[in-house]
Amino acid sequence: MITSETELNEIDLGSPTASSEESFFEATLRPQTLTDYVGQQKIKDNLQILIDAAKGRKDTLEHILLYGPPGLGKTTLAHIISKEVGVNIKITSGPAIEKAGDLASLLTNLAENDILFIDEIHRLNKTIEEILYPAMEDYALDIILGKGAGAKALRLDLPKFTLIGATTRVGLLSSPLRDRFGMTYRLDYYEDEEIERILERASQILNIGIDGAGKKEIAARARKTPRIANRLLKRVRDYAQVKASGKISKDVAKTALALLEVDDLGLDANDRRILLALIEKFNGGPVGISSIAAATSEDAGTIEDIYEPFLLRLGLIARTPKGRVATPAAYDHLKKAPLNQKQKEQTLL
Ligand SMILES: Nc1ncnc2c1ncn2[C@@H]1O[C@H](COP(=O)(O)OP(=O)(O)OP(=O)(O)O)[C@@H](O)[C@H]1O
Ligand SMILES: [Mg+2]
Repeated sequence: MITSETELNEIDLGSPTASSEESFFEATLRPQTLTDYVGQQKIKDNLQILIDAAKGRKDTLEHILLYGPPGLGKTTLAHIISKEVGVNIKITSGPAIEKAGDLASLLTNLAENDILFIDEIHRLNKTIEEILYPAMEDYALDIILGKGAGAKALRLDLPKFTLIGATTRVGLLSSPLRDRFGMTYRLDYYEDEEIERILERASQILNIGIDGAGKKEIAARARKTPRIANRLLKRVRDYAQVKASGKISKDVAKTALALLEVDDLGLDANDRRILLALIEKFNGGPVGISSIAAATSEDAGTIEDIYEPFLLRLGLIARTPKGRVATPAAYDHLKKAPLNQKQKEQTLL
């Protein structure tokens, strides 16, 4: 399934796929130029040079790998790159490319310098990946005609294109694939001040009345993630409209976010459920991700992709060779008394 200039399902915090309303909302708020793209300054500087150089030489942009936690702006950046270079972008995702023929038809339909964006590139299957190697390296497609002794190898030239891959799990990428990207960029969580700027921009586009303190309040709980900031803004706006004459102040934001069960660190009910399980069912760990998944009826991959990176970043959990552990900060945040050494030993008996 290939779509051009439209969104594939995106991981939605709290539910596996984003609703169409959500996709529409994201598309509306998606910045269109590098200048509009807030934060990630080093990546932007680097990209600008890469783009200017390629344009100056009238050359094809190098293959680019973007990685980092969900909602930090990988898809957005891929769109912006295509606009800045002035080429088309074809969008697909790892799991959508099922057969060799799917990839072959995608590649042969590209025009010179076009961008092929493969989201969730870590989920490409092995045979597809192997077709991608010569395509990326030599802009060639190797086709085997026939079977057995009479089989013939045929090499087909492809237009020079740019592959942009995006992944939340760069560790799952095979090294031959990773090595074929000319540039790799890791997107990082945003500073609160950057999130406030994103909220400023979003509230202008959506025509939402919000003051500085209201923005600060939302930014502080947005998990340093633009997608979540925008989503919270939308929810708080609904609340403000119904309960507070439409304008978002600090108090309105605080009350609305409390209703949404988003706490002062930005943790939602799911995050807290995971932390609580770790503390109450496994005495704070160490415990493997699959046990946490079973105890919380969550998918292990979802925990690893969506919940864990932020809990790690906040220092509420830590990774050890034996599994995940809850840190003293987690006990503190959930107002739980940490186990002392003796209790710990007893629970292990
Ligand atoms: N740097 C930014 N400046 C302004 N808005 C941003 C920025 N990055 C992301 N956003 C907003 O956040 C939303 C989510 O970003 P995006 O879809 O690009 O994330 P992603 O990294 O591709 O996530 P996923 O891993 O789930 O695919 C976008 O719709 C956009 O409105
Ligand atoms: Mg994306």
